[in-house]
Amino acid sequence: MRILTGIQPSGTLHLGNYFGAMLPAIQLQEQGEAFYFIANYHSMTSLTDPALRRQYTFDVALDFLACGLDPARCIFWKQSDTPEHTELAWLLSTVTPMGLLERCHSYKDKMARLADGDAGAVNHGLFAYPVLMAADILLYDSNVVPVGRDQKQHLEVTRDIAIKFNLLYGETFVVPEPRIRDEVAVVPGLDGQKMSKSYNNTIPIFGDEKSIRKRIMGIVMDSRGMAEPKPDAEKNIAVQLLRLVAPLETAVEVEERLRAGGFGYGDLKKALFEHYWNFFEASRARRAELAAHPDHVENILREGADKARAVARKTLARAKRACGLD
Ligand code: ADP
Ligand code: TRP
Repeated sequence: MRILTGIQPSGTLHLGNYFGAMLPAIQLQEQGEAFYFIANYHSMTSLTDPALRRQYTFDVALDFLACGLDPARCIFWKQSDTPEHTELAWLLSTVTPMGLLERCHSYKDKMARLADGDAGAVNHGLFAYPVLMAADILLYDSNVVPVGRDQKQHLEVTRDIAIKFNLLYGETFVVPEPRIRDEVAVVPGLDGQKMSKSYNNTIPIFGDEKSIRKRIMGIVMDSRGMAEPKPDAEKNIAVQLLRLVAPLETAVEVEERLRAGGFGYGDLKKALFEHYWNFFEASRARRAELAAHPDHVENILREGADKARAVARKTLARAKRACGLD
């Protein structure tokens, strides 16, 4: 089984990224051949600061390795070191109906956020992004793609493109399956919306203790007093986050205490912070160690790129042959 996923270096990684994409990927590296890359080409659709892109790219490498990505078990690299992605994207774009892309949320949401629907403010990269993503996936004959639910539509586009290409030019690509874990399909952010870099509602995986404590203690709750029973405790954002970072018994106990009344939101948020902080303790130490050895990290990415490129070249050659470009 080939497993592949990508993560964009477009901001500081957070609990949504961790539970939705990184942890499933880390667990899957035991079960097959894993290909994991830092999607720096993708980040160009939203981020235009070169220094920041370099910084975020290195941070994603540190974060992923610190959280348990094992370069001995998976191939880990930077997307721009395998430029075959962009060439395959062109081939694929010629079999992609415009309507398929026009229906994509990534593009539609951005259009909707622009009050005047100014199409000039949306770049072609963002519109064509699902095609590049299809190239990322198809280039490695991936069977399984672990992602959060927000990427499901992009996987469907990838499948459609692969099927269409195979029909037109003969069996060339493996049609991949998404792997979305239901229990963490959408990690809520501090404001109750999906946790996302774009909404300033995240809890970073790594960061300064004081500022993260402040973010967590600042989660806005309803006005019910401590004594009041809260029969809807399962809807509480802090409870939902606690379930991810605390042992199950602890989360269940806290939820029951809230239901019964006599347990305040302040204590709930304190518990969330403590469990969150402990949950990443070992990873934090590993990250500091890696950060002190940047050459080691660069080497891992370079070796990963060499291995990935060998596979990418073969698939691209196969695709070019299929459509008469050789
Ligand atoms: P963001 O929304 O913060 O920009 P990305 O779109 O870069 O995050 O997502 C990177 C990966 O993390 C994707 O696989 C995505 O599905 C997953 N992911 C992001 N936010 C969440 C979330 N709140 N819950 C679950 N998975 C998420
Ligand atoms: N689009 C994904 C995101 O924003 C990142 C990504 C790029 C990706 N290429 C991919 C994920 C290929 C899985 C497979 O999260």
